[in-house]
This record gives sequence, C-alpha cells and structure tokens, in this order.
Amino acid sequence: MPLKAVAGSATTAESAKTRHSGESKGFVEEMRFASMKLHTKEQSKEGEKRASQPEEGSVVKWEPTIEGYLRFLVDSKVVYDTLEKIVANAAFPAYAEFRNTGLERSANLAKDLEWFRDQGHTIPEPSSPGLTYAQYLTDSSAKDPQAFICHFYNIYFAHSAGGRMIGKKVAEKILNNKVLEFYKWEGQLSQLLRNVREKLNKVTEGWTREEKNHCLEETEKSFKLSGEVLRLILVS
Ligand code: HEM
Repeated sequence: MPLKAVAGSATTAESAKTRHSGESKGFVEEMRFASMKLHTKEQSKEGEKRASQPEEGSVVKWEPTIEGYLRFLVDSKVVYDTLEKIVANAAFPAYAEFRNTGLERSANLAKDLEWFRDQGHTIPEPSSPGLTYAQYLTDSSAKDPQAFICHFYNIYFAHSAGGRMIGKKVAEKILNNKVLEFYKWEGQLSQLLRNVREKLNKVTEGWTREEKNHCLEETEKSFKLSGEVLRLILVS
C-alpha cells in the first residue's frame, strides 16, 4: 500500500475513535444517544442499564395508584411551569427559540388536574421531587445554558416517547383508558418534535466540543431528577 494511503487510513481511524456517536446527524442525535444508553433494558430495547429503582422496571408490571399518579402530575406541572417560565424570560437569548413550540405541557396538565378535582379527588401539594427539579432548572438556566438545554431536550422528548407509553399503561390500569390532556398535542406531534430538533441543532451548532460534552454529561442528572418524579407514580 502506498505510504500516503497508510497515513490517510491512520488519520481516519483516529478520527473515528474520537468521533461522538450520532455526531454526523447533528447534536440532537448525540443527546439522544447519551439518553438511550441510560435507559434500562426493561424501559427500552436500546437501554443498557440494569434496573435498580422501581420506575426502572418494565412499565407493564407497574402497579400505579391514583394517589401516586396525581402526585406525579402535580410535580410534573411544577417542572413544566418552570421550563416554560425560563423560556419566556430567556435569560440567554437562545432560549427564546423554544417559545411556543407546541410541546408545552403546563396548560394541559392544569386541565387534567381540574378533571381529577371534578371527579372528587384531592389535588396534593407539590412535593420534593418536582420542587427539587424545578429549582435545579432555575439555577442551571441562569448560569449554564449547556446543562439547561440538556434538561429541556430530555424532559420534552422523554415525555413524547416513554412518557406516552407510561400514560397509556397507567390509563389502562387505573383510569378506564381515559386519555389525559398531558398526552395530547395540537397538530402532529412528529412535526412538532422535528421543528424542535431543528432548533436544538441550530442553537447548539456554535458550541465548542467541550460545551457539547458538558451538555451530554448532564444527561445523567436529568435521568436522576426525572426518575424521582416518575417514581411518584408508584407510591402507595
Ligand atoms: C419508565 C421510564 C421510561 C421508559 C419506559 C422510557 C422508554 C423509552 C423508549 C421506548 C424510547 C424509544 C423511543 C423510540 O423508539 O425512539 C425512549 C426514548 C427516549 N427517552 Fe425514555 N423512557 C423512560 C424514561 C426516560 C427518562 C427518565 C428520560 C430522561 C429524562 C428519557 C429520555 C428519553 C429520550 C430523550 C428519548 C429519545 C426520544 C426521541 O428520540 O425522540 N426517558 N424512552
């Protein structure tokens, strides 16, 4: 083999080694890859982790309660209220890109809580998992846009994927198959997600490799904090 070709292939091998999974398709694909690895095998076929928490087991085997599910919805609303407020205030100008994406969940959750109230249920006060996550989002959004964007992506996209599966299963088990507003979007969800992916790719385009890595490293925190909110569904 000519010398030049050998040198060329060595360079290619080296760059393949340092290339980040999904990098060629834009940064959203990298965020997705980082996330899918943190799922358990029971949560998704792309998952790599072993389940160690109640919410990490197979959703099919969950035994949800209305009380737990209401706590989950209330705490989720605290998280979405906070995300929507951060985007409305846009402490960093890039956040303004994510106003009115159609993925917002606060108003829908408010309707669901109203429905439960009309059914005679007492709506609980927000609790530590939701309040902790909301505080974390407020703090990181003010000083660390890479971390904030990671949470923004994971929260909205998780809800559109695993979140919908969870909603369907819980409805089958304890809500007579009632589809809550939390799981309804105006227009085509796939198109809304596509638009947000494009915006995320655009906003993150100018980030350095270090900034991108910092964002990807935040995925674990997002799983931990969201996992604590999800776990509320299973409290009795
Ligand atoms: C019981 C808990 C969960 C289940 C059952 C679950 C399940 C799934 C499944 C099946 C997918 C694949 C969708 C596809 O076919 O592309 C998915 C995607 C995803 N999940 Fe989860 N997940 C859970 C929790 C979480 C958590 C806690 C996070 C992060 C906070 C998360 C973030 C994501 C993201 C970002 C995607 C990619 C969505 C996309 O490509 O549009 N998931 N999840």
